[in-house]
Amino acid sequence: MKTTALLILALGLGAQPAAHAADIQPLLADYRAAGAGGFSVQQGAKLWTREVAGDQGPRNCGSCHGQRLDQPGEHLRTGKPIEPMAPQVAADRYTDPAKVEKWFLRNCKWTWGRECTPQEKGDLLTYLNASPTTN
Ligand code: HEC
Repeated sequence: MKTTALLILALGLGAQPAAHAADIQPLLADYRAAGAGGFSVQQGAKLWTREVAGDQGPRNCGSCHGQRLDQPGEHLRTGKPIEPMAPQVAADRYTDPAKVEKWFLRNCKWTWGRECTPQEKGDLLTYLNASPTTN
């Protein structure tokens, strides 16, 4: 009985992130069509913390979004709060492909000084859409 209850609990917890994550497959298919290959959470995590020199010191994606995906961020320049990036705590994340593309364009240019490639966008989105426990 005890084992069964634990098993159900474990299954329930394990299933939760997938149930709340956005369906990013259409966007990933676009990136593949644009020449990208397989996508990985590990690669996305690396890109998320990749530092590039800026006028006020090094920048990375976490400069505004914070280093924990399940916690709110704070805009580096305006100080405005930003919703957490984990779809498990902010259910509207990555549900609007036009919004995702708009902000990839803006944020990649600002943070890295150039657009992200389809490969980078696919890796980043795969990472962001995964469980916050991978952070
Ligand atoms: C200067 C601050 C800032 C930095 C640095 C930044 N972002 Fe953002 N990002 C924002 C803001 C503001 C929004 C829009 C508000 C929101 O979605 O909560 C946003 C939204 C996004 C979205 C859209 C999420 C959705 O719900 O569709 C993605 C994807 C994203 N950022 C990725 C990145 C990546 C990748 C990097 C690093 C290359 C990055 N951001 C760096 C401020 C920033």
